[in-house]
Amino acid sequence: MSRLSARELTLAYEDRTVVRELDLAIPDGRVTVIVGPNACGKSTTLRALGRLMKPKGGAVLLDGTSLAKLPTKRIAQQIGLLPQTPVAPEAITVADLVSRGRQPHQSWWQQWSDADERAVTEAMERTDVAALAERNVDELSGGQRQRVWIAMALAQETELLLLDEPTTYLDIAHQVEVLDLVRQLNHDRGRTVVVVLHDLNQAARYADHLVAMKEGRIVASGAPSEVVTAELVGEVFGLECVVVPDPVTGSPLVVPGAPWRGDAGVPAQGDTREDTQEGTATSTAVTSTPGTAPKR
Ligand SMILES: Nc1ncnc2c1ncn2[C@@H]1O[C@H](COP(=O)(O)OP(=O)(O)OP(=O)(O)O)[C@@H](O)[C@H]1O
Ligand SMILES: [Mg+2]
Repeated sequence: MSRLSARELTLAYEDRTVVRELDLAIPDGRVTVIVGPNACGKSTTLRALGRLMKPKGGAVLLDGTSLAKLPTKRIAQQIGLLPQTPVAPEAITVADLVSRGRQPHQSWWQQWSDADERAVTEAMERTDVAALAERNVDELSGGQRQRVWIAMALAQETELLLLDEPTTYLDIAHQVEVLDLVRQLNHDRGRTVVVVLHDLNQAARYADHLVAMKEGRIVASGAPSEVVTAELVGEVFGLECVVVPDPVTGSPLVVPGAPWRGDAGVPAQGDTREDTQEGTATSTAVTSTPGTAPKR
């Protein structure tokens, strides 16, 4: 089932169409990851799913009703969106910014409540920004600021959470922490999450459902084990690679070729590559065929 879906969605900036007749169903209670090259329309699609952008054609449906027909507040109670480059109001503190995530739950008769307080405190703790609560957002490092924005999205406590490149600016430990948090929210609270990621290996690890986009269209979608193949990486990114099982999770691991070595650096299908550099012998069975990658 899909509470959130897009039907024949066409999105344009003035007369420049960037997403064409896209059909997309976001599986409920799952983590969906959208991947694709720069400028293929991932952020534009995500913004339309959160009604930050009005479709030129088709519709985004929430529980079967077009977002265009739903009150903004109702949408904000159901869908939280962290855009790729959010802009903070000037001279706002971390605690105040995170608190703004609670706005959809307030009204003139229901001002700040204990539930609001709890949600904000928990969101700041989960994203490791509680110690920054009184700092100004514009004084923070890129990674700290990114975690504050994630905290604001979490404080909104929506069933559906849309995160556009939430790991940008984060060091590797915080990247893993944020993605683990996404998994946890999904696992413990049944949240439906849609994340745009650039790292294919993280995408394959964390996605239940992977959507690969190119030039405003969906090229492939499904379980990472079905979607992430060398052919697809070639088709979508124009990159030669091998795909091997991730040694920790078994999910597909994309290893780019190494053309600077004089060959493509990518063995043919069925080959086993012995690599004895620096005294370590590794043997890697190739799981799918490269070499079909179109040249850029
Ligand atoms: N505000 C805007 N006005 C005009 N064109 C835009 C605007 N935002 C994005 N575009 C264009 O729409 C296309 C899709 O952009 P979008 O931001 O959706 O790509 P993306 O897949 O998220 O890329 P990235 O991986 O770089 O974030 C690009 O060609 C971009 O230049
Ligand atoms: Mg983007």
